[in-house]
Amino acid sequence: MNELNVVVDSAKAAFNQALTPADLENAKALFVGKSGRITELMKGMAALTAEEKKSRGAAINLAKQAIEAALTARREALADAELQVQLKAEALDVTLPGRLRGSGGLHPVSLTLERIESIFASMGFDVAQGPEIESDWFNFTALNTPEDHPARSMHDTFYVEGGLANAPNLLRTHTSPMQIRYAVQHVKQHRLQLEAGKNTETLFSGAMPEIRVIAPGRTYRVDSDATHSPMFHQCEGLWVGENVSFKDLKFVFTDFCRTFFESDDLVLRFRPSFFPFTEPSAEIDIQFQSGPLAGRWLEVAGSGQVHPNVIRSMGLDPEKFIGFAFGMGPDRLTMLRYGVNDLRLFFDGDIRFLAQFQ
Ligand code: DAH
Repeated sequence: MNELNVVVDSAKAAFNQALTPADLENAKALFVGKSGRITELMKGMAALTAEEKKSRGAAINLAKQAIEAALTARREALADAELQVQLKAEALDVTLPGRLRGSGGLHPVSLTLERIESIFASMGFDVAQGPEIESDWFNFTALNTPEDHPARSMHDTFYVEGGLANAPNLLRTHTSPMQIRYAVQHVKQHRLQLEAGKNTETLFSGAMPEIRVIAPGRTYRVDSDATHSPMFHQCEGLWVGENVSFKDLKFVFTDFCRTFFESDDLVLRFRPSFFPFTEPSAEIDIQFQSGPLAGRWLEVAGSGQVHPNVIRSMGLDPEKFIGFAFGMGPDRLTMLRYGVNDLRLFFDGDIRFLAQFQ
């Protein structure tokens, strides 16, 4: 075997031994680099005759081409191997189940509010919204709770800018101011309709349509523990007409509770109590006959016959109009319905808790 064949064979062997592109470049330098074997062989031709140079040069060139071809082949082989490794590492298993994007859902208290609204709507109640920043008059005075009334101390709240100097605006402590706001609008609308002669049906009897409304929303008090949050929800109810009695309150609220809790044998108790805006007043307790809470009396609402002074605040004559009102806690209803024992869980925003209601 001549000397050039030996060089070509050893180049091929060195290239095949190179396992990375960097190794291969190092091996290349040994043969076709500046001080590689081929370059040295070229330099060695200086002493040859012109005739010898010709044949020797051609032979060295052939050897060089063979080495470069081997180098290119090995480069491609290494690049190909690297690609295979990468493809394997990044392989997608298209048979795996997809990861779905979460669709979100309603907060448990929102679910309760929707439920309350649809039950009362089915009984002919309107649903009204009102401001959370309220004036002293709507929150207290119009509800028969004048400035020096002791019941005010149970409603410590957050006072905000605006309002009267001696009676600043506040974050409403209950949804009861909506009784006044809604009734005043209702009375005004009826008068306008009478004047415009639009509503011939009521013109005929001269009667005002009954006020029947619920008002759900956020309320605020300076209170914070496992069963009280500074922000909580209430839902007010009001039914006023010329012939609405406590009996109607019992019927409506019993029907509501049994529908809400899907429990036909649920029992209600009206326990005498005091609220400035109702007379007589009652606390409403419920009792389940089965399930984990069976047998216990659970308070769910305050209620009563609307006080004559409140009827007056509405712009109506208490000799003619009578009705009932109630105020319940949707947060508490949600806790009872789902068996949650810490109110704060509703307002912490922990997705692991909230996702359970979807
Ligand atoms: N506003 C009362 C409270 O926050 C609840 C209440 C009691 C509302 C009796 C009423 C009612 O409408 O008649 O404690």
